[in-house]
Amino acid sequence: MPSITTRHFIQTAGTLLAGLVLVACGKQEPPAPAASAPATAASAPAPAAKVYVVGTDAAYAPFESQNEKAEIVGFDIDVAKAVAQKAGIEVKFLNTPWEGIFNSLNQGDRDLLISAITITPERRQTMDFSTPYFDAQQLIAVMKDSKIAKFADLKKLKVGVQNGTTGDEVITKLQGKDSGNIKRFESTPLALKELEGGGVDAVVADNGVVVHYVNNNSDLKFKTISDASFATEQYGLAVKKGNAELLEKINKGLVAVKADGTYAQIYTKYFGAPPAPGAAAK
Ligand code: ARG
Repeated sequence: MPSITTRHFIQTAGTLLAGLVLVACGKQEPPAPAASAPATAASAPAPAAKVYVVGTDAAYAPFESQNEKAEIVGFDIDVAKAVAQKAGIEVKFLNTPWEGIFNSLNQGDRDLLISAITITPERRQTMDFSTPYFDAQQLIAVMKDSKIAKFADLKKLKVGVQNGTTGDEVITKLQGKDSGNIKRFESTPLALKELEGGGVDAVVADNGVVVHYVNNNSDLKFKTISDASFATEQYGLAVKKGNAELLEKINKGLVAVKADGTYAQIYTKYFGAPPAPGAAAK
């Protein structure tokens, strides 16, 4: 039928035109599928906007976790969405196990990471970080009746951590890297479960997550211990090393969400009070 032929011709022309526009712009994106391209030769279809894939280890409430509907939610998610909006980019979140999360950037499976990631000099060698968006510190969780009073008390005790986190780093430094008393888990909730089950004497992890867990444990079985030896840590969003273009967008977005109060609003939603003056948060 002639009408189908005409439509095909127009679709093909449209696709070709889209391809030409993309080539002219020097963009890497593949052309939009013909089916979704408007079949009018008059207006060339706009190239589909890039959706940046954000990796997050969503077992870290209140920063990132999965709700009953398996949606990824939390402080980090709200921050990243707000930043993306200011930066004029589209993002989608993919649950990404902590182990391998940094590799996913290098391999190009993820464009961006937000996962309560502490900016460390070591990590800076393999990825680039945004300006800090959150201040944190290690915190010790123990059972309520525990005799443990300070970090040094953990020297010879069984301690649970999430593998490869800064909590892992501090306890490895205290006990030595050959210590057989460090139990490394793939997630922080698993380490905390082990504490409850008596398999470890303490868990060392980021304060926000420990406090959240302890407060949400209905039996109130735990207590927390802070220690002056714990350094202040700062969280940043991470991009693949050298991705200056995306990093600049993110940093601009961060400035904007901090400046107009969006950040403080998100912070208050999750932590009950606005960020302290002078915090990375500000
Ligand atoms: N801040 C710590 C670190 O960077 C722990 C982060 C763990 N995050 C997570 N979503 N599991 O090592």
